Amino acid sequence: MSYHFKTELGKAADGLLKFKKTAVLTGAGISVASGIRPFRGKGGLWEKYDPEVVVNINNFRRDPAASWVMLREIAGVIMTAKPNPAHYAITELQELGLVQGVITQNVDGLHQKAGSREVIEFHGSTSRVVCLDCRAVYPLEEINMEVLPPPCFDCGGLLKPDAVFFGEAIPPAALMRARVESQQCKAMLVIGTSGMVEPAASLPGLAKSHGALIIEVNPEPSWLTATTVDIFLQGKAEEVMPRLVAEIRDRSPERPQ
Ligand code: APR
Ligand code: ZN
Repeated sequence: MSYHFKTELGKAADGLLKFKKTAVLTGAGISVASGIRPFRGKGGLWEKYDPEVVVNINNFRRDPAASWVMLREIAGVIMTAKPNPAHYAITELQELGLVQGVITQNVDGLHQKAGSREVIEFHGSTSRVVCLDCRAVYPLEEINMEVLPPPCFDCGGLLKPDAVFFGEAIPPAALMRARVESQQCKAMLVIGTSGMVEPAASLPGLAKSHGALIIEVNPEPSWLTATTVDIFLQGKAEEVMPRLVAEIRDRSPERPQ
């Protein structure tokens, strides 16, 4: 890591320790090291599937099987994916009392698997499916994907992954909690998001407008870096986040190891 990185890392550690009220916003980049492809960029999911077709609610109702073909392909990865050091670092920061809410755009459930609390699933989760007819909810593991689309166990209706599709609203409770978290935090750690999809992409700007320090972790600049970010920690989340926790521990030896 270059000297410049070390300086920025120290500033980020000082910020989290000083404010003790940091919100986290994560995107697909934090799960890349867990084997889950991001959406955009090289090797992204959207290189293979057109989101406007397979995760658009209107198309889903017209041709649910197309979405389920994609979901069946990634379901295996999502169900067996394990949290990586970046997810565990966030849980550690919560245990140190430095991080409160974890707002995630991801639908893989890895923050909860890593033991994080206060996880706000801004785009829902594919670890569950919901019936569009009777609203019954089942864990993805219980679904037999031999027949697509799988029928609801209760009413035979249309089952849909409980993730927010394009054309659907963000779950109101998640939207409200994320906005409160963004307005009340004193710092926001933005990890692994291209910052291209609204309304999640506006949360760092909302935090900043309330005086928060914005720290970004990403191997490359995002749409937020130039406009909103105060401290840019250039690197992979699975490498940077454990270093940030180590830097914080070095600065506060009295904290429980
Ligand atoms: N560590 C940190 N960031 C990484 C890593 C890594 N190891 N690898 C890639 N990234 C970064 C990329 O540089 C990019 O900025 O993660 C980001 C991934 O961007 P996207 O694929 O656009 O994912 P995201 O920002 O979460 O997309 C937002 O778009 O399609 C919708 O609903 C979907 O929630 C998703 C939303
Ligand atoms: Zn049903």
